[in-house]
Amino acid sequence: MALIRHLKAWSRRPSELPAVPPLKGVLLADPAAFQVVECINPHMTSEDGSLNRIDAAEARKQWQALKDAYCRIGLEVAVLPPVPGLQDLCFSANPSMVLPLPDGAKEVWLGRMAHASRAAEVEHHRRFFASRKYAVREMPESVARFEGCGDGLLHPGRFLLHAGVGFRSDPGAWQIIADAHPELDVLLYELQDPRFYHLDTALAPLHETSALWVEEAFSPEGKALLQAAFPTLIPIPLEEAMNFAGNAHCPDGKHVLLQAGSPIIERKLQEAGFATIALETGEFIKSGGSVFCLKQSF
Ligand code: ARG
Repeated sequence: MALIRHLKAWSRRPSELPAVPPLKGVLLADPAAFQVVECINPHMTSEDGSLNRIDAAEARKQWQALKDAYCRIGLEVAVLPPVPGLQDLCFSANPSMVLPLPDGAKEVWLGRMAHASRAAEVEHHRRFFASRKYAVREMPESVARFEGCGDGLLHPGRFLLHAGVGFRSDPGAWQIIADAHPELDVLLYELQDPRFYHLDTALAPLHETSALWVEEAFSPEGKALLQAAFPTLIPIPLEEAMNFAGNAHCPDGKHVLLQAGSPIIERKLQEAGFATIALETGEFIKSGGSVFCLKQSF
Protein backbone atom coordinates (compact mmCIF):
# COMPACT_ATOMS: atom_id res chain seq x y z
CA MET A 1 0.00 0.00 0.00
CA ALA A 2 2.46 2.55 1.20
CA LEU A 3 4.65 4.06 -1.53
CA ILE A 4 6.02 7.23 0.03
CA ARG A 5 7.51 10.11 -1.96
CA HIS A 6 7.26 12.97 0.53
CA LEU A 7 8.15 13.20 4.17
CA LYS A 8 4.73 14.58 5.07
CA ALA A 9 3.16 11.38 3.74
CA TRP A 10 5.32 9.16 5.98
CA SER A 11 3.59 8.54 9.26
CA ARG A 12 5.93 5.94 10.74
CA ARG A 13 9.64 5.78 11.57
CA PRO A 14 11.97 2.76 11.31
CA SER A 15 11.63 1.81 15.00
CA GLU A 16 7.83 1.57 14.55
CA LEU A 17 8.08 -0.86 11.64
CA PRO A 18 8.14 -4.64 12.08
CA ALA A 19 11.59 -6.14 12.71
CA VAL A 20 13.11 -8.43 10.08
CA PRO A 21 16.04 -10.84 10.50
CA PRO A 22 19.37 -10.04 8.82
CA LEU A 23 20.42 -11.81 5.61
CA LYS A 24 23.50 -13.94 6.23
CA GLY A 25 24.46 -15.07 2.75
CA VAL A 26 25.78 -13.45 -0.41
CA LEU A 27 25.31 -14.69 -3.94
CA LEU A 28 28.20 -13.82 -6.26
CA ALA A 29 28.65 -14.74 -9.92
CA ASP A 30 31.94 -15.92 -11.42
CA PRO A 31 33.40 -13.10 -13.56
CA ALA A 32 34.86 -15.29 -16.36
CA ALA A 33 32.49 -13.71 -18.92
CA PHE A 34 32.82 -10.16 -17.56
CA GLN A 35 33.54 -7.53 -20.25
CA VAL A 36 32.50 -4.07 -21.34
CA VAL A 37 30.76 -4.50 -24.70
CA GLU A 38 28.36 -1.52 -24.79
CA CYS A 39 27.91 1.69 -22.86
CA ILE A 40 24.83 1.60 -20.62
CA ASN A 41 26.02 3.95 -17.88
CA PRO A 42 28.41 6.93 -17.79
CA HIS A 43 31.25 4.95 -16.16
CA MET A 44 31.81 2.53 -19.04
CA THR A 45 33.77 4.73 -21.43
CA SER A 46 37.08 6.55 -21.12
CA GLU A 47 37.65 10.22 -21.83
CA ASP A 48 37.98 9.72 -25.59
CA GLY A 49 34.59 7.98 -25.67
CA SER A 50 35.93 4.47 -26.29
CA LEU A 51 34.66 1.54 -24.25
CA ASN A 52 36.73 0.68 -21.19
CA ARG A 53 38.91 -2.42 -21.52
CA ILE A 54 38.79 -5.04 -18.82
CA ASP A 55 41.86 -6.90 -17.63
CA ALA A 56 40.30 -10.32 -17.04
CA ALA A 57 43.10 -11.61 -14.80
CA GLU A 58 42.95 -8.51 -12.63
CA ALA A 59 39.13 -8.70 -12.46
CA ARG A 60 39.34 -12.28 -11.25
CA LYS A 61 41.90 -11.36 -8.60
CA GLN A 62 39.68 -8.54 -7.32
CA TRP A 63 36.56 -10.71 -7.34
CA GLN A 64 38.38 -13.50 -5.49
CA ALA A 65 39.52 -11.05 -2.80
CA LEU A 66 35.92 -9.87 -2.35
CA LYS A 67 34.74 -13.46 -2.06
CA ASP A 68 37.47 -14.24 0.49
CA ALA A 69 36.52 -11.17 2.52
CA TYR A 70 32.89 -12.33 2.78
CA CYS A 71 34.04 -15.78 3.85
CA ARG A 72 36.37 -14.33 6.47
CA ILE A 73 33.62 -12.34 8.18
CA GLY A 74 31.44 -15.43 8.34
CA LEU A 75 28.89 -15.01 5.57
CA GLU A 76 27.67 -17.93 3.51
CA VAL A 77 28.96 -17.39 -0.02
CA ALA A 78 27.23 -18.95 -3.03
CA VAL A 79 28.51 -18.55 -6.60
CA LEU A 80 26.67 -18.67 -9.94
CA PRO A 81 28.77 -20.15 -12.75
CA PRO A 82 29.71 -17.78 -15.60
CA VAL A 83 27.49 -17.73 -18.69
CA PRO A 84 29.10 -16.86 -22.04
CA GLY A 85 27.54 -13.69 -23.44
CA LEU A 86 26.27 -12.48 -20.05
CA GLN A 87 29.04 -9.99 -19.36
CA ASP A 88 27.22 -8.27 -16.49
CA LEU A 89 25.99 -11.37 -14.64
CA CYS A 90 28.75 -10.76 -12.08
CA PHE A 91 26.72 -7.74 -10.88
CA SER A 92 24.46 -9.99 -8.81
CA ALA A 93 22.65 -7.11 -7.11
CA ASN A 94 20.52 -6.36 -10.16
CA PRO A 95 18.60 -9.37 -11.53
CA SER A 96 16.74 -9.95 -8.26
CA MET A 97 15.94 -8.64 -4.80
CA VAL A 98 15.60 -10.79 -1.71
CA LEU A 99 13.08 -9.45 0.77
CA PRO A 100 13.20 -10.82 4.32
CA LEU A 101 9.75 -10.85 5.92
CA PRO A 102 8.79 -10.16 9.55
CA ASP A 103 7.74 -13.80 10.07
CA GLY A 104 11.28 -14.97 9.20
CA ALA A 105 10.42 -16.19 5.68
CA LYS A 106 12.23 -14.77 2.68
CA GLU A 107 10.97 -14.10 -0.81
CA VAL A 108 12.78 -13.07 -3.94
CA TRP A 109 11.49 -10.65 -6.56
CA LEU A 110 12.89 -11.25 -10.03
CA GLY A 111 14.20 -8.27 -11.94
CA ARG A 112 13.12 -6.82 -15.26
CA MET A 113 16.34 -5.51 -16.72
CA ALA A 114 16.32 -2.07 -18.32
CA HIS A 115 18.70 -3.20 -21.09
CA ALA A 116 18.07 -6.18 -23.38
CA SER A 117 21.69 -7.30 -23.01
CA ARG A 118 21.07 -8.15 -19.35
CA ALA A 119 17.60 -9.70 -19.64
CA ALA A 120 18.78 -13.32 -19.66
CA GLU A 121 20.52 -12.92 -16.29
CA VAL A 122 17.18 -13.11 -14.51
CA GLU A 123 16.62 -16.75 -15.39
CA HIS A 124 19.86 -17.71 -13.63
CA HIS A 125 18.70 -15.99 -10.47
CA ARG A 126 15.30 -17.67 -10.76
CA ARG A 127 16.96 -21.09 -10.87
CA PHE A 128 19.25 -20.38 -7.95
CA PHE A 129 16.46 -19.17 -5.68
CA ALA A 130 14.05 -21.89 -6.76
CA SER A 131 16.72 -24.47 -5.86
CA ARG A 132 16.95 -22.86 -2.44
CA LYS A 133 13.14 -23.06 -2.07
CA TYR A 134 12.58 -19.31 -1.89
CA ALA A 135 9.14 -18.02 -2.78
CA VAL A 136 9.90 -16.59 -6.23
CA ARG A 137 7.82 -13.57 -7.24
CA GLU A 138 7.66 -11.84 -10.55
CA MET A 139 6.63 -8.44 -11.83
CA PRO A 140 3.55 -8.29 -14.08
CA GLU A 141 4.00 -7.53 -17.80
CA SER A 142 3.07 -3.91 -17.16
CA VAL A 143 6.35 -3.26 -15.29
CA ALA A 144 9.04 -2.32 -17.81
CA ARG A 145 12.04 -1.86 -15.51
CA PHE A 146 13.06 -3.22 -12.13
CA GLU A 147 16.73 -3.76 -11.29
CA GLY A 148 16.47 -5.52 -7.96
CA CYS A 149 18.89 -4.53 -5.22
CA GLY A 150 20.57 -2.03 -7.51
CA ASP A 151 17.62 0.20 -6.69
CA GLY A 152 16.07 -1.55 -3.69
CA LEU A 153 17.98 -1.19 -0.42
CA LEU A 154 16.70 -2.89 2.71
CA HIS A 155 16.65 -0.79 5.83
CA PRO A 156 18.79 -2.78 8.30
CA GLY A 157 16.60 -4.75 10.68
CA ARG A 158 13.26 -3.23 9.67
CA PHE A 159 10.49 -3.96 7.19
CA LEU A 160 11.32 -0.84 5.22
CA LEU A 161 12.63 -0.47 1.71
CA HIS A 162 14.53 2.42 0.12
CA ALA A 163 13.62 2.44 -3.55
CA GLY A 164 15.28 4.30 -6.41
CA VAL A 165 13.56 5.27 -9.66
CA GLY A 166 14.51 7.21 -12.73
CA PHE A 167 17.29 5.42 -14.56
CA ARG A 168 16.77 1.66 -14.10
CA SER A 169 13.59 0.98 -12.13
CA ASP A 170 10.04 2.31 -12.45
CA PRO A 171 7.66 3.35 -9.65
CA GLY A 172 5.21 0.67 -10.82
CA ALA A 173 7.61 -2.04 -9.68
CA TRP A 174 7.78 -0.66 -6.15
CA GLN A 175 4.02 -0.28 -6.12
CA ILE A 176 3.65 -4.00 -6.84
CA ILE A 177 5.92 -4.88 -3.91
CA ALA A 178 4.21 -2.40 -1.60
CA ASP A 179 0.78 -3.78 -2.58
CA ALA A 180 1.98 -7.30 -1.80
CA HIS A 181 2.98 -6.26 1.74
CA PRO A 182 0.65 -3.87 3.56
CA GLU A 183 3.06 -3.76 6.53
CA LEU A 184 6.02 -2.68 4.39
CA ASP A 185 6.87 0.99 3.92
CA VAL A 186 8.59 1.86 0.65
CA LEU A 187 10.38 5.20 0.45
CA LEU A 188 10.77 6.36 -3.14
CA TYR A 189 13.75 8.38 -4.38
CA GLU A 190 13.83 10.07 -7.80
CA LEU A 191 17.49 9.76 -8.74
CA GLN A 192 18.82 13.04 -10.14
CA ASP A 193 22.28 12.39 -11.52
CA PRO A 194 23.16 9.86 -14.26
CA ARG A 195 26.51 9.14 -12.59
CA PHE A 196 24.51 7.71 -9.69
CA TYR A 197 22.11 5.72 -11.82
CA HIS A 198 21.30 3.02 -9.28
CA LEU A 199 20.32 3.86 -5.71
CA ASP A 200 23.16 1.63 -4.50
CA THR A 201 25.73 4.01 -6.00
CA ALA A 202 24.47 6.82 -3.76
CA LEU A 203 23.24 5.25 -0.53
CA ALA A 204 24.70 2.58 1.74
CA PRO A 205 22.68 1.69 4.85
CA LEU A 206 25.03 0.72 7.69
CA HIS A 207 22.68 -0.14 10.53
CA GLU A 208 19.25 0.87 11.72
CA THR A 209 20.21 4.47 12.45
CA SER A 210 23.05 5.27 10.05
CA ALA A 211 23.96 5.31 6.38
CA LEU A 212 26.45 6.72 3.90
CA TRP A 213 24.99 8.94 1.20
CA VAL A 214 25.86 11.01 -1.85
CA GLU A 215 23.79 14.16 -1.45
CA GLU A 216 24.09 15.23 -5.10
CA ALA A 217 22.10 12.17 -6.19
CA PHE A 218 18.90 13.12 -4.36
CA SER A 219 16.05 15.56 -4.86
CA PRO A 220 14.93 17.80 -1.96
CA GLU A 221 12.07 15.33 -1.24
CA GLY A 222 14.50 12.41 -1.23
CA LYS A 223 16.91 14.19 1.09
CA ALA A 224 14.14 14.89 3.58
CA LEU A 225 13.05 11.25 3.56
CA LEU A 226 16.59 10.02 4.11
CA GLN A 227 17.18 12.43 6.95
CA ALA A 228 14.07 11.11 8.66
CA ALA A 229 14.96 7.47 8.07
CA PHE A 230 18.60 7.64 9.25
CA PRO A 231 19.40 9.93 12.22
CA THR A 232 23.09 9.67 11.27
CA LEU A 233 23.80 10.28 7.60
CA ILE A 234 27.45 10.41 6.62
CA PRO A 235 27.89 12.50 3.46
CA ILE A 236 30.35 11.16 0.88
CA PRO A 237 32.45 13.85 -0.81
CA LEU A 238 31.90 13.83 -4.57
CA GLU A 239 35.45 12.72 -5.31
CA GLU A 240 35.01 9.60 -3.17
CA ALA A 241 31.48 9.07 -4.48
CA MET A 242 33.00 8.89 -7.97
CA ASN A 243 35.33 6.24 -6.52
CA PHE A 244 32.17 4.27 -5.64
CA ALA A 245 32.49 4.78 -1.87
CA GLY A 246 28.67 4.91 -1.85
CA ASN A 247 28.57 1.37 -3.18
CA ALA A 248 29.80 0.06 0.16
CA HIS A 249 28.25 -2.97 1.83
CA CYS A 250 27.72 -3.45 5.55
CA PRO A 251 26.29 -6.97 5.90
CA ASP A 252 26.28 -7.21 9.69
CA GLY A 253 26.25 -3.74 11.25
CA LYS A 254 29.98 -4.05 11.99
CA HIS A 255 32.08 -4.59 8.88
CA VAL A 256 31.96 -2.27 5.90
CA LEU A 257 33.36 -3.57 2.64
CA LEU A 258 34.16 -0.78 0.23
CA GLN A 259 36.28 0.24 -2.72
CA ALA A 260 39.84 1.13 -1.69
CA GLY A 261 41.07 4.71 -1.94
CA SER A 262 38.38 6.68 -0.11
CA PRO A 263 40.35 7.89 2.93
CA ILE A 264 37.76 10.41 4.15
CA ILE A 265 34.91 7.90 4.27
CA GLU A 266 37.14 5.17 5.68
CA ARG A 267 38.15 7.45 8.53
CA LYS A 268 34.56 8.52 9.23
CA LEU A 269 33.45 4.89 9.29
CA GLN A 270 36.22 3.96 11.70
CA GLU A 271 35.39 6.91 13.95
CA ALA A 272 31.80 5.67 13.99
CA GLY A 273 33.02 2.27 15.20
CA PHE A 274 32.89 0.24 11.97
CA ALA A 275 35.63 -2.11 10.81
CA THR A 276 36.45 -1.13 7.25
CA ILE A 277 37.57 -3.66 4.66
CA ALA A 278 38.99 -1.78 1.68
CA LEU A 279 38.98 -3.81 -1.52
CA GLU A 280 40.19 -2.98 -5.01
CA THR A 281 37.33 -3.32 -7.50
CA GLY A 282 38.72 -1.02 -10.18
CA GLU A 283 38.05 -3.43 -13.07
CA PHE A 284 34.35 -3.55 -12.14
CA ILE A 285 34.16 0.22 -11.69
CA LYS A 286 35.07 0.39 -15.39
CA SER A 287 31.61 -1.12 -15.93
CA GLY A 288 29.87 1.09 -13.36
CA GLY A 289 29.79 -1.21 -10.34
CA SER A 290 31.72 -1.98 -7.17
CA VAL A 291 31.32 -3.99 -3.96
CA PHE A 292 27.58 -3.69 -3.37
CA CYS A 293 26.71 -4.41 -7.01
CA LEU A 294 28.74 -7.60 -7.03
CA LYS A 295 26.54 -9.52 -4.61
CA GLN A 296 22.94 -10.35 -3.84
CA SER A 297 22.25 -10.78 -0.14
CA PHE A 298 20.10 -13.83 0.57
N1 ARG B 1 27.41 -2.50 -16.28
C1 ARG B 1 26.38 -2.75 -15.33
C2 ARG B 1 25.13 -1.99 -15.73
O1 ARG B 1 25.24 -0.89 -16.19
C3 ARG B 1 26.81 -2.36 -13.95
C4 ARG B 1 25.80 -2.65 -12.90
C5 ARG B 1 26.20 -2.16 -11.54
N2 ARG B 1 25.27 -2.56 -10.57
C6 ARG B 1 24.78 -1.82 -9.56
N3 ARG B 1 24.02 -2.39 -8.70
N4 ARG B 1 25.00 -0.54 -9.47
O2 ARG B 1 24.03 -2.47 -15.63
